[in-house]
Amino acid sequence: MIKNKTLEIVDIDVKLLIDKLTTAFADEWMAAYQYWLGAKLARGPLRSEIAAELMVHYEEEISHATLLADRILQLGGDLRMFPHDWKRFGSCDYDAITNVQMLSVLQENLKGEQCAIAFYNDLLKMVQGKDFATQAIIMKILSDEIEHEQDIIQFLEDISA
Ligand SMILES: [Fe+2]
Ligand SMILES: [Fe+2]
Repeated sequence: MIKNKTLEIVDIDVKLLIDKLTTAFADEWMAAYQYWLGAKLARGPLRSEIAAELMVHYEEEISHATLLADRILQLGGDLRMFPHDWKRFGSCDYDAITNVQMLSVLQENLKGEQCAIAFYNDLLKMVQGKDFATQAIIMKILSDEIEHEQDIIQFLEDISA
């Protein structure tokens, strides 16, 4: 049996950790899709400017999914999942876009970001000091989600001014 130091240094229930990271992984795909669709469909004030920023967020959510996927694999988890499983595995309630008005699209994005911030903040408390590799990944993702929230709040303020 080959020694696996990666797992040996994790001072936390690895199965529970993989479950949490899998939840986040599903949420990231839904967030990415929500941004991508919003960038294509949203109509209203500052459309070009906001759509460009939503595409930046889309790419960052995909990069979060990649960070989480790599960590899940390092921990011995399984990534096999279909898009129809995202909602079941995820923890944030990503709604389909029914209203393409900019205000509504941004409000849905804000809801998603605030759910993500709460989730990652809790996860960070769970892993801090117990799994430094996961901690570093979650800190990076959390700071991105905070930036996303602030971008959306600024756009909401701009279009409501
Ligand atoms: Fe994300
Ligand atoms: Fe985000």
